[in-house]
Amino acid sequence: MTPTNDEMARILTPVAPPRVIEGVYTDDQYERLWRLIEDKGPWPTITAHHFDTVEELVATTSGPMRDGDGGMALTLDDIATGHFRGYLANGSTCFHPEIEDIFYNHRFLDLVRDYWGAQMAQPTHMLFNLCGAHHSGLSPHLDAVQFRGIRMHNSPVWLMNVMGKSGLFTDYMVKMAQVITWWYKGENGTFTYWPDGPYGPPKVLGHPLWNKGVVVQNEVMFHRGDPVGRPEDRDIPGLKHRSLLGYEADRDDWAITTDGEVIRRYQPEEMRLLVHWSAELYADMAEAEKAFEHSDDLTQERACEMLLADMRSKGVDVAEPSDPMNDSEFIKALIATYTIAPTTDWISAA
Ligand SMILES: [Fe+2]
Repeated sequence: MTPTNDEMARILTPVAPPRVIEGVYTDDQYERLWRLIEDKGPWPTITAHHFDTVEELVATTSGPMRDGDGGMALTLDDIATGHFRGYLANGSTCFHPEIEDIFYNHRFLDLVRDYWGAQMAQPTHMLFNLCGAHHSGLSPHLDAVQFRGIRMHNSPVWLMNVMGKSGLFTDYMVKMAQVITWWYKGENGTFTYWPDGPYGPPKVLGHPLWNKGVVVQNEVMFHRGDPVGRPEDRDIPGLKHRSLLGYEADRDDWAITTDGEVIRRYQPEEMRLLVHWSAELYADMAEAEKAFEHSDDLTQERACEMLLADMRSKGVDVAEPSDPMNDSEFIKALIATYTIAPTTDWISAA
């Protein structure tokens, strides 16, 4: 059963339209960030941060694999892309004292409080993505959504994904917002987003992408980093899941290496840098206390009961799972029921 446009607009549109901001970081902040990224590399691929095996990737995103799912033929090298990531802060802890003032940033806290109309905000993590020309997909995605009691440390991403898309758990959803900023002088590499839901028209944050950012709620808004660089420059022969990207000061260029061997070089002006700063918000003291005291948390059991009841009310024929978190039929039914993707896309339609 396909959800209606109205339902989707209700569930998968952000709390407020994205706010475009110019001049996000000061020159001094940018220089300190860039120096850190140059000095503390080399940096792993985005997928290497999160997955060691294909089985782990599939289990995280789509539930456990069954025998005969056919996923074994695929390796992480087959899906590796030349996009690299480093964490600057996580768990509300900044990893580098020289950028603490950037992570605990009053301006960003004000921006996200204002975006949500919330009283309190706490920075949670900060990361950067760095790349030159490389192949990447056109699939829009949502960032991981979390709920009171159902969070990254205790639950798989597939569960949080279906919970988010179901619209059943809005009261438990952790309020989040991000300030995402780009610096890029090359070709393409824009940001496409669906502020009016997956069936609404997308918008593109276009060039000049220099110290330009958006305040967004990317867990409920489909978005995509558009392919970077000229198409003829995107091949990276020898790229693997374990490849690294590092700055070579003596040459003043960036090198992708696989097992120590340089497979690709980029000039500094070819690099596209994205810095992602994220915060969690509390509407008021009552909501903050509910979160801190865990007085109104969901459990996986309760979430699965609610999802099962909702699927049945939609006419989905699904057996009562005995072990819902590991029942691949139940998980497949959930993912099939709550699979939603944008149907409007100017770039891929072109
Ligand atoms: Fe994202």
